[in-house]
Amino acid sequence: MTKHIGILTAGGDSPGLNAAIRGVGKTAQGRYNMQVTGFLDGFKGLAENRSIRLDGEFFSGILTRGGTILGTSRDKPHRMMFGGKKQDMTDTIVENYHSNHLDALVCIGGGGTQKNALKLLEKGLNIITLPKTIDNDVGLTDTTFGFDTALGIATEAIDRLHSTAHSHHRIIVVEIMGHRAGWLALGAGIAGGADVILLPELPYKIENVANAIRSRVKSGKNFSIVAVAEGALPQDQAELMAQARSAKELASNKGSRKQAKKDIIRIEAANANHTVTLSAQLEKLTGLESRVTILGHLQRGGTPSAADRLLATRLGAACADSINNEQFGVMIAAHGDSAVAVPLTEVAGTKKLVPADHPWVQAAKSVGTNFGI
Ligand code: F6P
Repeated sequence: MTKHIGILTAGGDSPGLNAAIRGVGKTAQGRYNMQVTGFLDGFKGLAENRSIRLDGEFFSGILTRGGTILGTSRDKPHRMMFGGKKQDMTDTIVENYHSNHLDALVCIGGGGTQKNALKLLEKGLNIITLPKTIDNDVGLTDTTFGFDTALGIATEAIDRLHSTAHSHHRIIVVEIMGHRAGWLALGAGIAGGADVILLPELPYKIENVANAIRSRVKSGKNFSIVAVAEGALPQDQAELMAQARSAKELASNKGSRKQAKKDIIRIEAANANHTVTLSAQLEKLTGLESRVTILGHLQRGGTPSAADRLLATRLGAACADSINNEQFGVMIAAHGDSAVAVPLTEVAGTKKLVPADHPWVQAAKSVGTNFGI
């Protein structure tokens, strides 16, 4: 019997999503004769039953396109704005899955999507996922599509900032995305030759950063590039944040969980302009002029790199193979050149952070990059 599969893209968009949709769709239709429906705007579209039939034409010409032809949102099945208030829409999603006579649902997304997909798996749906995010922080996969493209964009930005920092004898502090993970800042910082790299995983001391810049000045280099991950924090703030996060994890009742959440929000708010503050502090401590560049969503936009197209295509094609084999409850992960099905129960809730002794960190230290530690 012809299988009918649904596809949705959820969470922040990232380059390579369309290549993945195409990889799943072309294989599902061309090789297995499956029918494919795309649900719009992530889990929200599934809750609202907004979908389009994806026939062969839809998969043509999208390989190179950024964003997602299906649209996306950060809505979670169990907490979604619906009818003007936040509601648990899980049961509606389950109903819509069945009323559309789906045999499987492909959820393409980052860490949050893996968790949300697991919840639907636990409701008895045939779920299979793919790992995308520019943050590269999904566990049990070598990498995620979107990361390579963002890495290229952030590296090019650092390249370009070098000549202006050099000409004006300035510090330029460049803020790089990554949420709570430092992969993007670390990779682009190394590839772009940043003088200082600040990561969430390695809380820094401002004095150490200032010293590194001062010693560059002493050696005749009166400009510096500081690549700072958006989640990086100075040591005192990072300690407070770690305490609040572990209090949230360990909370035994609603009250203490609520309090821990409030503490996290307060610390986040206090550090909201962290990059600007850092730049001002460095200006004061070193006597050099300092400027800030926040790369923001530029890092997620535009055409995917060749590596991301390749990764998304091979994981997408393997995803359709798994559906054909009725292998559900898995994320199709990249392990070297292979695509491997890893259990969603093991993936959901993982966050792949940069280990302090990661080879990239060691290589950066070897070439004299300062981490402010
Ligand atoms: O997860 C991808 C990401 O770009 C993070 O790097 C960043 O913290 C976040 O999304 C920004 O989210 P939004 O686009 O919802 O502002």
